[in-house]
Amino acid sequence: MTDKTFAPRIFSGIKPSGGLTLGNYLGAIKRWVAMQDTGGFETTIFCVVDLHAITVWQDPAELGSATREVAAGMLASGIDPSRSILFNQSRVHQHAELAWLFNCVARMGWMNRMTQFKEKAGKNAEKQSLGLYAYPSLMAADILLYHATHVPVGEDQKQHVELTRDIAAKFNHDYGTEFFPLTEPVIEGPAMRVMNLRDGTKKMSKSGESDMERINMTDDADTISKKLKKARTDPEPLPSELAGLKDRPEARNLVDIYAALSDQSPEAVIGEYAGAGWGTFKPALAELAVEKMAPIATEMRRLMDDPAEIDRTLAHGAEQAREIAAPILNRTAEIMGFVR
Ligand code: AMP
Ligand code: TRP
Repeated sequence: MTDKTFAPRIFSGIKPSGGLTLGNYLGAIKRWVAMQDTGGFETTIFCVVDLHAITVWQDPAELGSATREVAAGMLASGIDPSRSILFNQSRVHQHAELAWLFNCVARMGWMNRMTQFKEKAGKNAEKQSLGLYAYPSLMAADILLYHATHVPVGEDQKQHVELTRDIAAKFNHDYGTEFFPLTEPVIEGPAMRVMNLRDGTKKMSKSGESDMERINMTDDADTISKKLKKARTDPEPLPSELAGLKDRPEARNLVDIYAALSDQSPEAVIGEYAGAGWGTFKPALAELAVEKMAPIATEMRRLMDDPAEIDRTLAHGAEQAREIAAPILNRTAEIMGFVR
């Protein structure tokens, strides 16, 4: 293994902690499929990050079905196991091992700056698991275990990818090597932060209180349509320039969703719908979302009817993942001076 040249390689992951949302689709999976198909990457690796999910309580009776649902969502969206490596994280023990090594590289001060921990822990930091706090170091291990050069994620993960670069740089510096690449986050397109349909200042997430706040990737056509038509908006029609949406987060969100689903820029969408009221725009958005998302939901349901087949796909992906991961972990241990 040469220590300096890195083939362009993608790694990304999603936690099996509840169902997938339109935010996961537009902020992550849809872009992964495009990168797999036409991105010119040597290897594309997509992971159901179950070790990350347990940083908050997961019912053992549900972790398996959540893991299969995330895998089904990736497969139904076009992740192709004959072209990408698709697996669940806990099957490849090297992730947890490298994370420990990185726990001894990362600094407390770096972890203390992580805004996602602060948001999730809130006033209850003392009661959170140590895993939730250390989670960015596991994420760095996920990425660097494959020498991934590019990580496509939504906006909320940018800080964690930057921390990954800090860990790689400190490791390389401390051990006098250039073993780990400085990974780039890939955060581009109109929907890197899909917002809650009831409150445009909050991110759409798997765990919001009301189901009306989000589109689930398993929602059927009627549900998708109903949720979008009932999405909160303001009374104004759409402006003729994007700047007119500046202080209108709900309106901006719906325009961004439309843009991402139709592969256009938000400017182009505004150009087409300038002056339109919600009575025009919402039904058009609902129709577009149903056209794009309902077939994926149908395919997800079909795949989830055969869990054994999903399990075989994940097991095969784990074997492929281990082939890359094992030599990189071994070399890391060697660089650090462990007797092996
Ligand atoms: P998670 O569901 O937290 O494991 O996130 C998996 C991936 O989906 C990450 O790349 C996130 O950045 C992305 N993601 C999750 N929610 C959203 C959202 N509301 N908007 C855009 N991307 C999102
Ligand atoms: N932390 C990411 C999230 O919550 C999930 C994740 C774990 C991930 N490991 C990763 C994303 C590695 C990209 C690369 O969304």
